[in-house]
Amino acid sequence: MNIITPQPREIITNENVFTFSKETSINTTISDLAEYLKTTLALDTGIILEQTSTDSKIELFLDESLELECEGYILRVSEISIIISASSEEGLFYGIQTLRQLLYEKKGKWFVDGVKIIDKPRFEWRGFMLDVCRHYQPVETIKKLIDAICLVKMNKLHLHLTEDQGWRIEIKNYPKLTEIGSKRKDTKIGSHLSKKFRGEPHSGFYTQEEIRDVIQYAKKRYVEVIPEINIPGHSSAAISSYPNLSCKGEQIEVKTKPGIYADIYCAGKETTFDFLEGVLDEVIEIFPSKYIHIGGDEAPKTRWKACPYCQERIKKENLKDERDLQVYFTNRVAKYLESKGKCIIGWNEILGESLNKNAIVQWWLGNPKKVKKYIPKGRKFVMSPFGKTYLDYNYLMHPMRKFYFEPVPNPVKTYESGIIGVETPIWTEWVPNLERLGWQVFPRLFATAEVAWTKPNLMNYALFKKRIPQLLKFLDALGIPYAELEEVDPSNWKRFTHLRKWLQWPEV
Ligand code: ACM
Ligand code: ZN
Repeated sequence: MNIITPQPREIITNENVFTFSKETSINTTISDLAEYLKTTLALDTGIILEQTSTDSKIELFLDESLELECEGYILRVSEISIIISASSEEGLFYGIQTLRQLLYEKKGKWFVDGVKIIDKPRFEWRGFMLDVCRHYQPVETIKKLIDAICLVKMNKLHLHLTEDQGWRIEIKNYPKLTEIGSKRKDTKIGSHLSKKFRGEPHSGFYTQEEIRDVIQYAKKRYVEVIPEINIPGHSSAAISSYPNLSCKGEQIEVKTKPGIYADIYCAGKETTFDFLEGVLDEVIEIFPSKYIHIGGDEAPKTRWKACPYCQERIKKENLKDERDLQVYFTNRVAKYLESKGKCIIGWNEILGESLNKNAIVQWWLGNPKKVKKYIPKGRKFVMSPFGKTYLDYNYLMHPMRKFYFEPVPNPVKTYESGIIGVETPIWTEWVPNLERLGWQVFPRLFATAEVAWTKPNLMNYALFKKRIPQLLKFLDALGIPYAELEEVDPSNWKRFTHLRKWLQWPEV
């Protein structure tokens, strides 16, 4: 049986066939899950349950004594029943996702073939990151994406909310962040080397109410939403709104081009930390997640080197240099957030010997030897290696087959405990609409989902690829576009003869 993505741990088929009809009843004590199951099956099959039958039932059975890890489940299909049991609601939810993929239609009737599936994930962190800054993405798009990622049992949505090109979350105590910081005059199009601009302003932000709505929507699908407030770099939109946040204190503009910008938060002024704590107070009030992502990537140190406040801080705190000053900056924010019961995660540039011991590192670039060096010291990593998880590049540069990778450094046995999961990010510099977003993300994200869930000895790229058409029908129903299977794995010959196209994007 090769029909479920991500590939489950254990599948034992039997000869029975379950018939799903409008008479089928749902038995469970968890009313939210029953409601979700009913609406989802109605969307998937067109069958609206009347629940009148006593010999055709789907049972969701929460059994806390079951010896299965938190997110695991057992699904049993016989002629008269489908029983999903798990020790947690998450497990039941993942059993439902498996059931959705098992249902098939024949001559206008719906069936599930007899099977027993015992399943659980390999990693606890199975993430997708969406950059809503380079291009604002409507709430409806975010909800569609949540529906698509939970289908393949992903459980973290990392929202990248602040950038040089826009600040996208309402902060009531700092209204200029959205009055000024959420708007830019124009947007570069085509490629980094292009001189073209779209010729129109771009803006957008989420009210706190909208964010709460997204979090609730995600929660019902067992997806945790993690906010990213990037410090100290990628902060031009905040500095445009409140210029005193930078070392020079000069007015700058929200950026219209991608890149890495010199003006970052000043690490010397106390007012920077007052501001950040004020912002984070509101952020943690909205996001129930234990994790707050604090960015930390691509923060040039030119301004800090020339800033009397930053230099004074280095002296006073007895720091080695500006790199060490970033560790100080990160640790100070981490400590503040820890006092509020939160844990930070940041891109690998936050690493340093004295980094806060609980900080999780999201690995995206650099020598993986560093991962090996820090795991024995207790550091936890989420793996997002650029060449194997970045969805913002086209299929010539990042074919789907590269996404089907082993995230734990060799030897796996030694390092497995330090890797808590995998995340696939989409940066949206060149992604202005759902058409483009869908094409970039799907079906590559399904590969990440399998990497994050399935045991390595059960992974098989050819079999995985064969299963993709069954997932595409769910994307069709959600109205999410995707790349055609014929284009996702260009041959290396084609890739190298089209090298110049690797960093080109359509001019939209
Ligand atoms: C990153 O891609 N700058 C984390
Ligand atoms: Zn400074």
